[in-house]
Amino acid sequence: MKKLIKNGLIVTAADTYKANVLIENGKISAIGEHIEEEGAEIIDAKGRYLLPGGIDPHTHLDMPFGGTVTKDDFETGTKAAAFGGTTTVIDFCLTSKGEPLKNSIDTWHNKSKDKACIDYSFHLMVGEINDDVLAELPQVISEEGITSFKVFMAYKNVFQADDETLFRTLLAAKDLGALVMVHAENGDVIDYLTKKALEDGNTDPIYHALTRPPEAEGEATGRAAQLTGLADSQLYVVHVSCSNAVEKIAEARNKGLNVWGETCPQYLVLDQSYLERPNFEGAKYVWSPPLREKWHQDILWNALKNGQLQTLGSDQCSFDFNGQKDLGRGDFTKIPNGGPIIEDRVSILFSEGVKKGRITLNQFVDITSTRIAKLFGLFPKKGTIAVGSDADIVIFDPSVERVISAESHHMAVDYNAFEGMKVTGEPVSVLSRGEFVVKEKQFVGKPGSGQFIKRAKYGEEVCEQGRESLQSTQI
Ligand code: URP
Ligand code: ZN
Ligand code: ZN
Repeated sequence: MKKLIKNGLIVTAADTYKANVLIENGKISAIGEHIEEEGAEIIDAKGRYLLPGGIDPHTHLDMPFGGTVTKDDFETGTKAAAFGGTTTVIDFCLTSKGEPLKNSIDTWHNKSKDKACIDYSFHLMVGEINDDVLAELPQVISEEGITSFKVFMAYKNVFQADDETLFRTLLAAKDLGALVMVHAENGDVIDYLTKKALEDGNTDPIYHALTRPPEAEGEATGRAAQLTGLADSQLYVVHVSCSNAVEKIAEARNKGLNVWGETCPQYLVLDQSYLERPNFEGAKYVWSPPLREKWHQDILWNALKNGQLQTLGSDQCSFDFNGQKDLGRGDFTKIPNGGPIIEDRVSILFSEGVKKGRITLNQFVDITSTRIAKLFGLFPKKGTIAVGSDADIVIFDPSVERVISAESHHMAVDYNAFEGMKVTGEPVSVLSRGEFVVKEKQFVGKPGSGQFIKRAKYGEEVCEQGRESLQSTQI
């Protein structure tokens, strides 16, 4: 059945205007001031914004990590994402050394295919480069439609890759048309500092932050950027937390390098003091990179405003406080790293960013959706409200005030990192390819309805039947 959304204010990365939106066969078929369509389901969006569905470029759903498995899987995670105004997630597919990449990709398809309530894609971890991996990567791009690779510069003896691996991944990505993502922290230095802290009897959660200083992130970010320049390739730095890393990204961009940066809500609104909360509560705030001293927040906000950082990911990686985070009582290195953010990513940026005058409304859409679609080969299928695009639309109430809480969130996890935070603005209804997933704050979606999306190469547009592609995306 056709749907006609009337009276809403369309907000894209470029424009804000009043118009009706007609949806047919999961796509936006017309946009105009006076559209009427007999027989269509009418959705009144008076007083509300129509936003392109949010795209979360950084999630870890159903992922084994830190001796346990993330609490949210593709069902609970994507349901919560939809409540939060996100209609596409790109999850990290882990790989194991010596194992064909295809096996890991199949594992991730099995985790997601009957569960996802919204569309999704994968980034592929590259932990080693050898002839087998190099032989498989072209198929990863052309057959699997996975066009971004992730290299960890930290987590020594777990995920950490050496500089040769990073450099050769950058070279391969340049040839194949992929974007290389890095977790940029100096894992060797962190490994030494953590061992030393434990030797000295320093076991509380705060030592997680103190053993992963901003310098370790700035150094790794600068190194990755330099190697990108040397390889003439392209780099996306995930979860940027501090001034030191922003400086290195800005320096690289000023030289004309294709270096992009993502930050996350937790770094914009929480700070290192949270790790000192009593009764082991600090464990709830253990992320890598760690939360920083508060002054870094202004630097991150300014970087989003002036374009030195371009995107917001959630880094959703949730663990219950009871039974998972508490694996690290008495030894901070055993606290599973990560937190539940997928649901609050969009609302926090709107409330703290747009409402507080730090970024514009159109920047907010760019940072949470459009730029991500362009960088990761999803545009213009996703990431905008335009004729021919998927009808992934968020009907957003910009004026409602509410309090974030574990009691009302939809994630499976037993706490919310932003508990008690007041926010203005809320996704009221969310459509994925023209079907409601959330309707007037009620879940009406279906696990398994989300589709795996094969993405275009870096810098290219997703080409679909019936829609001519421009072939290259202006990022
Ligand atoms: O603490 C974090 N960030 N956990 C998720 C894994 C990662 O490094 O992104
Ligand atoms: Zn990471
Ligand atoms: Zn992550």
